[in-house]
Amino acid sequence: YRYLIPAHQGRGAEHLLALALVRPGTIVPSNLYFTTSREHVELAGGIWVDVAVREATEPESLFPFKGNIDLARLEEVLAAAAPGEVAYVRQEACLNMAGGQPFSIENLAAVRELTLRHGVPFIVDATRISENALFVKEREPGYAERSLASLIRLIADHADGAIFSSKKDHFVPIGGFVAVNDLDLARKLREQVVVYEGFPHYGGMAGHDMEALAQGIRESTDERVVEAYVSQARYLGALLEDADVPIVLPVGAHAVFVDAKRFLPHLEQTEFPAQTLAAAFYLAGGVRSMERGIVSGQHGHEPYDGLELVRLTLPRRVYTQEHLTWVADVVSYVRSRAEETPGLRITYEPEHLRFFQARFAPLQPFPDLAIEHAAQAPALAPA
Ligand SMILES: Cc1ncc(COP(=O)(O)O)c(C=O)c1O
Repeated sequence: YRYLIPAHQGRGAEHLLALALVRPGTIVPSNLYFTTSREHVELAGGIWVDVAVREATEPESLFPFKGNIDLARLEEVLAAAAPGEVAYVRQEACLNMAGGQPFSIENLAAVRELTLRHGVPFIVDATRISENALFVKEREPGYAERSLASLIRLIADHADGAIFSSKKDHFVPIGGFVAVNDLDLARKLREQVVVYEGFPHYGGMAGHDMEALAQGIRESTDERVVEAYVSQARYLGALLEDADVPIVLPVGAHAVFVDAKRFLPHLEQTEFPAQTLAAAFYLAGGVRSMERGIVSGQHGHEPYDGLELVRLTLPRRVYTQEHLTWVADVVSYVRSRAEETPGLRITYEPEHLRFFQARFAPLQPFPDLAIEHAAQAPALAPA
């Protein structure tokens, strides 16, 4: 891209983009949603429209490109919109909320073609672009011989701009940016960055953060590096599949997602099964995970019957294989006691992005799940 505007992290970049492109009443069609991405669009008065393929919300479907956009649906939305009513179309690489699932180049190219035809900006959430590129190389015919760097470039070339949370594929603990080709848009973003983040040459990052980020970007194009951490997710996924734990398939790149609806079928979705499971994993073995169900996904208090997942995320270069074995053992152990696990009620609910800080209480006393001895976790027991 011609212009790069740094921000302190991904949501800072999303904020700038929303201020520059979203006006009250405009719409942003996207494959599913990401929490902070949707929040910034809505705070700017925009309306989020889900145009993901059906398979994105089917945990058991083996469809290889659940990050694809439903082209017929997108075309319908674009055709029905008045001129200027669509702020931008967003397509997220390795779609987090669907379980870290990629889009295909074929789908991306078709979205590009539609957005050009309708004169609408197309922005990729490229936070997980390296992982998406790896899956394209592995799964999409015609790309096996391409280098990862050239596939990342190919993806970026299809869009008018990209936003990054660099805390993922770029390996840094802080940082992000928005990158665009259009000078007018770049100027608008720069006007906002000085208000909210810092000067356009650092966007809220310290010099040493930017040096680390530059190195992270280089490493994010190294196939061996990306393959190494994606294989950790595959390893954990295989352990969980062997233990008959219901997970989202195919296993994504940055995490394994447990399907709480199938894990705790005795709970209603309004009893927060995924949040319950996250609590149970922590109580059993200190495993910290992330709710990606009704707490994260419900829009206001509208009815919600969507995905109910717990994300076992794998920060890059942090865990060893032994950690992953422990995680799998803890999850299997909780599964053996699933029926005893009561649901939760919410006791504190922030108005925005409630999943980050909400508080919960059990509907009945929680059983004592703590695994006190390795012997209780079957696979780690001495032979
Ligand atoms: C796809 C996607 N976009 C944006 C963000 C927001 O980035 P940050 O957490 O750096 O603010 C995230 C964070 O998880 C993300 O996964």
